[in-house]
Amino acid sequence: MCSIIGYYGKETAAPIIVKGLKRMEYRGYDSVGVATESNNQIGLKKGIGKVEEVNAKVHLEGLPGKIGIGHTRWATHGKVTDANAHPHPSTSGKIAIVHNGIIDNFQELKNDLEKEGYQFKSDTDSEVIANLLQRNLENVKNIKETIIKTVSELKGHYSFVAMFENGQLAAVRFHEPLIIGVGKNEFFLSSDVLGFIEYTDDAIYLDNRNFVIIDDDKMQILDFEGNSVKIEITKVSKEFADAYKGDYAHFTLKEIYEQNETILRSGEKTLDAIEKTADYIKHAKNIFVTGSGTSYNSALIAKQILSKYAKIKVEPIISSELQFSPDSIEPNSILIAISQSGESADVLEAVNIAKQKNCKIISIVNLLTSSLARESDVVIGMNCGPEIGVAATKSFTSQLGILYRIVEKLSNGSFTVDFKEISNSISKILENPYKIQQIAKDIKDISDIYVLGRGIHYPVAIEAALKLKELTYIHAEGIPGGELKHGPLALMDSNVFVIIINPNDATYSDMLTSAREIKARGAKIIGISDQESDVYDYWIEIPKTNESTYLISEIIPIQLLSYYAALEKETDPDYPRNLAKSVTVK
Ligand code: G6P
Repeated sequence: MCSIIGYYGKETAAPIIVKGLKRMEYRGYDSVGVATESNNQIGLKKGIGKVEEVNAKVHLEGLPGKIGIGHTRWATHGKVTDANAHPHPSTSGKIAIVHNGIIDNFQELKNDLEKEGYQFKSDTDSEVIANLLQRNLENVKNIKETIIKTVSELKGHYSFVAMFENGQLAAVRFHEPLIIGVGKNEFFLSSDVLGFIEYTDDAIYLDNRNFVIIDDDKMQILDFEGNSVKIEITKVSKEFADAYKGDYAHFTLKEIYEQNETILRSGEKTLDAIEKTADYIKHAKNIFVTGSGTSYNSALIAKQILSKYAKIKVEPIISSELQFSPDSIEPNSILIAISQSGESADVLEAVNIAKQKNCKIISIVNLLTSSLARESDVVIGMNCGPEIGVAATKSFTSQLGILYRIVEKLSNGSFTVDFKEISNSISKILENPYKIQQIAKDIKDISDIYVLGRGIHYPVAIEAALKLKELTYIHAEGIPGGELKHGPLALMDSNVFVIIINPNDATYSDMLTSAREIKARGAKIIGISDQESDVYDYWIEIPKTNESTYLISEIIPIQLLSYYAALEKETDPDYPRNLAKSVTVK
């Protein structure tokens, strides 16, 4: 989603803001802007494109002053245009804001403000915040009361930073993340610790319905009723500062290659929480698992492996769907929420619904300081380090690693996982990407790919299709192998590629039959298997392992294929068009 940042200190603000925005670009990257205050005047520059491009064009870093705000956008209201890029000044130009989230009642507010003579230059919902602040400040003359009045008028989910021409900064959190970095004689306001981790690891995680005013080198935190809030500083793990590509061309490639290591670390620092989770599950009447995107695909795998290896029934729920069928969750159940970022609005909404039903919340999350972690009764950390590439890769396999560990605990010794062996399998696949690079060349111009899997491998097929969509923009679909004859076979012809996930387990011979049926219709077959077959036009070999751990080996070549096909198509694998890593709006 959008990223917002504010700086108040002794250094020139603009370069610090630009650097922070670059680090947070994974949250949205269609346009960017910076505003600073200098000599009681606000200067502002913005434009469409990525931070580097816009900075090269308009020299964002050149803005003077030691106080400033910045933004990278992921468009929700209004097209990707210069005018819609943030910051947005108020009509008088004396206030500028950056906003993340959605203002649901912006149209009514805009109509009212326009009647009163306020002007709007963009199609965004965000601009109403700037003009509301101006109107309220003109009436109440103090920033605290201005913010309290303004938030009482806004509906929706938002966080914003406002800068006033006298150099005061204010930032508000309402259901969107906002973190304060506390440095020596300086303050940072940011959507993510990555915005300031280079300068300080002292952070304050603002609670929902809290705001901060920074003025005269001092900071004051208040709630929406105007009461002072106690300041609690948390030390942020420096590990999250390590968000550099190193020698890799892209974060996505780096993150794919880290998996032989991250799988060993999955859940490692929160083994007690895994133990506790197993205990909760053992005594629960009903268990639900939720997530969005890739994390939902992990939820599908949770259902498969818990029922198969631990005889425990769990029901996966797409987070964004729960609001339409809240009764599908029984009171006093357990909800396992899976989310890399811990900030996906849909997941937080699902958690909120479950909490109202008195459910216990267990989260599997990478960012232990995230909103989801803070809402949970038990938190299991993925421990895979920052994932910057928008398409989830290492977080997916870490989620599976944790699910394996939970199943191990619940299976009374009948299910064990050799993580070292999985790690070796991953290394082996990654050692030899050349064949996959060749296949990437051959799929680059096709318009449809189908991915077939059966049993526990079907959710991997769905995840594989998601990777192909996200990174290559090729239409891709995961299909349960057995369903081929019930419809999808009609789509097979010589223009189509089909990936067959075919480890040598109980699903093997049926999958081979499906492959032959497809081949007979002229489609090209890519077989992912430990066993070669004449039916494959391309064979991607995965090491022989046991049934459950094949899951991880299967997804690695498809992550690589998606990455290399993106390069062939000259798209940016780290920042696929129209997507954002952490979707903090509903
Ligand atoms: C976005 C990303 C996906 C990701 C999903 C869930 O849609 O583009 O790649 O899988 O969010 O993210 P989470 O952080 O909740 O796991």
